[in-house]
Amino acid sequence: MSPDLRAFELGGGDAAEALDWLHVHAQVLGVLEHDDGSFRVWLDGPLPALPQPRVSVRELAVRPGDFAVTGREHDAAIPIAADLLVRPPWVERPPGFVGVELLLPRGNAFGSGEHGSTQAALRCLHRVWDRPASFADVGTGSGILALYASVRGCGDVQACDVDAHAVAAARELLPQARIELGGPERLAPADFVVANLTADELHAALPALLALWRRRSPLVLSGMRAHEVDGVLARLPAAPDGRETVGDYTAVALPPVR
Ligand SMILES: C[S@@+](CC[C@H](N)C(=O)[O-])C[C@H]1O[C@@H](n2cnc3c(N)ncnc32)[C@H](O)[C@@H]1O
Repeated sequence: MSPDLRAFELGGGDAAEALDWLHVHAQVLGVLEHDDGSFRVWLDGPLPALPQPRVSVRELAVRPGDFAVTGREHDAAIPIAADLLVRPPWVERPPGFVGVELLLPRGNAFGSGEHGSTQAALRCLHRVWDRPASFADVGTGSGILALYASVRGCGDVQACDVDAHAVAAARELLPQARIELGGPERLAPADFVVANLTADELHAALPALLALWRRRSPLVLSGMRAHEVDGVLARLPAAPDGRETVGDYTAVALPPVR
């Protein structure tokens, strides 16, 4: 451990910018990003005066164990169903588990398996999965729902997201899939379509989602809160034959038209 090692907590609106600046103007030995957007940084020496006006700084005591911190200490496998789980690659498979495993590094983009809307969508996918020839995931985030299709053997997986950061994360996770920046109109029609979006986003995207869906396999929509479900269902061409609720979020599945 360097004798000049110092640790600081950076918070406030400019924390990310301050961290970028520190990488250029100080010797940054380690960084831990917290869920609220603040950072803990370890420097070889004192903290230079930061030019960012909206950053808050607190110096912390340096403990001998600091360099053993990875930020992964609390990661665990997330059970979705009895035979479906999500886990980061660095977390062991729970003993005795048999079923579908989605290996996903945590923290790259929305959708590490912890959110109720993701879990409801996965449960619906798992319940109605009918080995589609093609699959489209609208609002892919980390790529978790597209990963499900890929792990289940679908050879034609496409996905899109309006967020460039999400697109980069999903491309890294699924190099064999076609991942587009933008909305559902960027994708080619697919047999099975899934979208986990907020209810407002679902309403806005619904015409394009229905145009994307070939109806040879199910359509799964997730991300609705209880009071939002009926409004979305009223605009769909058929009644759902599957519904999953996890926490505050509901996913519905429409059957294929055979
Ligand atoms: C709730 S997250 C879902 C992420 C992941 N699919 C999951 O289930 O965990 C919704 C994602 O949809 C994206 N999004 C919102 N509206 C969209 C649209 N019209 N077309 C494509 N992506 C959209 C957001 O950027 C966000 O990454």
